[in-house]
Amino acid sequence: MQKNDLIHPVWLRATHWANALAVVILVTSGWRIYDASPFFDFHIPAGITLGGWLGGALQWHFAAMWLLVINGLIYLGINIFSGRLKRQFFPLTLPQILRDLGAALKGKLAHADPRHYNAVQRAAYLFVMLDIVLIVMSGLVLWKSVQFPLLRELLGGYETARRVHFFCMATLVGFFIVHIVMVALVPRTLLAMIRGR
Ligand code: HEM
Repeated sequence: MQKNDLIHPVWLRATHWANALAVVILVTSGWRIYDASPFFDFHIPAGITLGGWLGGALQWHFAAMWLLVINGLIYLGINIFSGRLKRQFFPLTLPQILRDLGAALKGKLAHADPRHYNAVQRAAYLFVMLDIVLIVMSGLVLWKSVQFPLLRELLGGYETARRVHFFCMATLVGFFIVHIVMVALVPRTLLAMIRGR
């Protein structure tokens, strides 16, 4: 393979798939944890949750939390320090996003070069990175509330942090669904994320 055939380097593919696995485990075990003490008028059907009971779900949640955080630090670290984050996701302006969104809705957004993301992809990927950072911060407050008093107060206290954690999860699930639909519409992006080319 020629070096310039490479679309996604191996570290990116490895961290992307490890992140996807961690997110699926965290979301489904998180639903089981929520069911043990729901703060809305609904519960999540047990059949789509992971862990079987509160104790089991917590074990899954804590295990996958380490995967998400360590893997996320590797992804962000390489991305930032190699200069790729700046190159791949910037510049990004609101008019660009609106223009590309309009083109996408009319089915006129080009995918000629999968090496470069359009403004909608850039915005969506940066948004999900920030969403995951907020999930981790609110998760820290729920896990070690006493040890992170400043973070707890910044997030509006323990009960508000629970809701922040929940809404970030819902946003992540929304991203996940749209992301999969977009990948299904342009399947060769999936091949590139698996094989690199
Ligand atoms: C919630 C879990 C997921 C998150 C947070 C996520 C996030 C991301 C991010 C941030 C990127 C851009 C990476 C970069 O270039 O630095 C990306 C790209 C990509 N992801 Fe995911 N992803 C998830 C799950 C999945 C799943 C399940 C699939 C497969 C069905 C998938 C397929 C892809 C593909 C094909 C690309 C490259 C897309 C393109 O060329 O636009 N992702 N994902």
